[in-house]
Amino acid sequence: MYTVAYFEKILNKKKQFTKEDIESILSRAVTIEKDIKNGTVKKVLADKVIACIFFEPSTRTRLSFETAAIRLGANIISVENALASSSSFKGETIEDTARMLSCYADAIVIRHHKSGSADIASSVATSSIINAGDGANQHPSQALLDVYTIKKEYGHLDNLSIAFVGDLKNSRPLHSLMPIFLFYPNNTFYFVSPKELAISEELRQELEDKNIKFIETQNMEEVLPKVDVLYMTRVQKERFDNIEDYEKVKDSFLLKGEHLDLLKMKSMILHPLPRVNEIDPVIDNDKRAYYFAQAQNGLYVRMALFLYIFGL
Ligand code: NCD
Repeated sequence: MYTVAYFEKILNKKKQFTKEDIESILSRAVTIEKDIKNGTVKKVLADKVIACIFFEPSTRTRLSFETAAIRLGANIISVENALASSSSFKGETIEDTARMLSCYADAIVIRHHKSGSADIASSVATSSIINAGDGANQHPSQALLDVYTIKKEYGHLDNLSIAFVGDLKNSRPLHSLMPIFLFYPNNTFYFVSPKELAISEELRQELEDKNIKFIETQNMEEVLPKVDVLYMTRVQKERFDNIEDYEKVKDSFLLKGEHLDLLKMKSMILHPLPRVNEIDPVIDNDKRAYYFAQAQNGLYVRMALFLYIFGL
């Protein structure tokens, strides 16, 4: 069963988000966005320590989590490049690392290259674990900021046509977004990818079982005029066993300036970033390009997530 595989451990219980949890975080983020603009954010986490430990590279996720913590008054302990600079280098297990960080921090934001690592960490940690990406598995806070961005524009998360383009096999944002979208009715999904990078059989099966409308195709041009949301993804080079396989598919779907004419005037281009070449920078100034706004929204959503975790 394809569920909302969120491994945040909240109040010492392993917890998967419900639709209500998600809506409460999204509406909190709306308030926070206003508070930031008005300069009225309260430092309610002044007595908290938040650990950020990243075993994989990150720009937006780590820095927006840290900014979120700082804006709310928390103190941060942070390990970047943790494969080389934490005791993981000496062979320490993820379990022991999570136990140790629980001794110091009230919440632990973790990114790791292995699928399931956040779940393992949460099984032994006594502090809350926030999964900031575990291998090709899940990236729940990214999915939350994505739906926040979409809802801000359309006002709803149902009755939308959404295309996902690129590496759908390895995109952890997609893997966390789909369970959220499945809470909302009447959405149509287009999955555009090379065959080698298609959605999992598990997701395909679940969509069929639930009678959700979805189309898998390799024709991006045909899909563009139909969608409200175009979600581009990077081909995840680091998940390939050999470079030849990557080279074969890396340029399969590139969004160019001329594609803008095919998109509806009211549509949104999203991308979790970083991009390589899958969105031509000439698109950046188009009003349908939302990927930088999306990254900005990550701050509000991650602040809302901290408040939620601490029951505030
Ligand atoms: C994504 C990730 O790490 O999964 N990036 C991000 O967190 N903003 C997508 C990617 O790396 O391609």
